[in-house]
Amino acid sequence: MRNDTSFSLTPHRSWTPGGRRLPLLVRTAMGLAWPGPDPRVLRAAVAGRTVLITGASSGIGEATARQVALAGGTVLLVARTADRLAAGRARIVSAGGSAHDHPADLSDPDAVGALVEEILTRYGGVDVVVNNAGRSIRRSVSASAERFHDYTRTIDVNYLGPVRLLLGLLPGMRERGRGHVVNISTVGVDLPPPQWTAYLASKSAFEAWVRAAAPELRADGVVTTSIHFPLVHTAMSAPTAEFARLPGMSPDEAGAVVCRALAYRPRLLSPWWARAGGLVGDALPATVDAALTRYHRTTRPTSHGPAAVGPAALGPAADVLPVDDAGAAR
Ligand SMILES: NC(=O)c1ccc[n+]([C@@H]2O[C@H](COP(=O)([O-])OP(=O)(O)OC[C@H]3O[C@@H](n4cnc5c(N)ncnc54)[C@H](OP(=O)(O)O)[C@@H]3O)[C@@H](O)[C@H]2O)c1
Repeated sequence: MRNDTSFSLTPHRSWTPGGRRLPLLVRTAMGLAWPGPDPRVLRAAVAGRTVLITGASSGIGEATARQVALAGGTVLLVARTADRLAAGRARIVSAGGSAHDHPADLSDPDAVGALVEEILTRYGGVDVVVNNAGRSIRRSVSASAERFHDYTRTIDVNYLGPVRLLLGLLPGMRERGRGHVVNISTVGVDLPPPQWTAYLASKSAFEAWVRAAAPELRADGVVTTSIHFPLVHTAMSAPTAEFARLPGMSPDEAGAVVCRALAYRPRLLSPWWARAGGLVGDALPATVDAALTRYHRTTRPTSHGPAAVGPAALGPAADVLPVDDAGAAR
């Protein structure tokens, strides 16, 4: 493959307040400094393999696809936006990599069925699935009174779509006795903060599916990895104004973490503080609830206050309340 700096495995600088680079120790403590893999180990894991990556039109998925292709994998790019996928494929191919684009809406059961059929017919199956496509909505319960569709549209993309896809692709992997499923999840499943119910319930549903499936799949040679990412500065996190001020990973850094998972196939990658938070949440639920209640009171949008609660108060204005709903128009 041609040497192309845009394909470098060296992570870009994380975004930091004031644009300064935080010391490595601080970044490590914050779970933002996960090393990428040894390039030789990654190459051994993906070269000549077929790696399907959902949500490959932007953010973490796009960065992962570039890095996997650089290491010799054939990447199958899945997302809805056909022109972005085609552009990503063209960049990879012009750099000497191997990529194919497969536009599909994972929230549409028929589209997922057609995608599975196309993949099996054209490639005979896949070696790796990176379940990365996702939809996030930040909206308080009180502002959701007339928005049940927030729950269906997150569960469709974050849970049902990936399950449908895997039910179609796993039989081939199990028959061959090898395969790897990587689930891109969030630290929010370790300790769910308020105001993200639709997003976190759907991410937790798929996380539970993977946990329950892992021993069954491992018995047939298919391993699973869950990655609980902290903040990554992408189109998804951009609508949340507070996040813009917080340190986070760049998409390329997050892509390197996914490559680390592909190379070493750990069961779970999650920052130490998220794991610790999950343990504390289980051990002291009332204390943690009280702390998160204080957090909610200080961070909820004022229009979500008790006086505004209820369908009548929300009315059509519910759509213009300050919420962080990446891709709300869809
Ligand atoms: N950013 C963060 O801080 C963060 C933190 C923890 C975990 N995560 C997880 O990381 C993953 C990637 O998110 P990102 O941050 O990279 O955001 P992003 O740049 O917005 O990427 C989301 C991807 O999902 C695709 N997608 C959305 N709906 C889809 C659908 N119905 N069918 C097919 N593809 C669909 C989008 O493509 P189209 O719009 O073209 O379909 C896009 O490629 C998500 O699962 C997210 O939950 C993100």
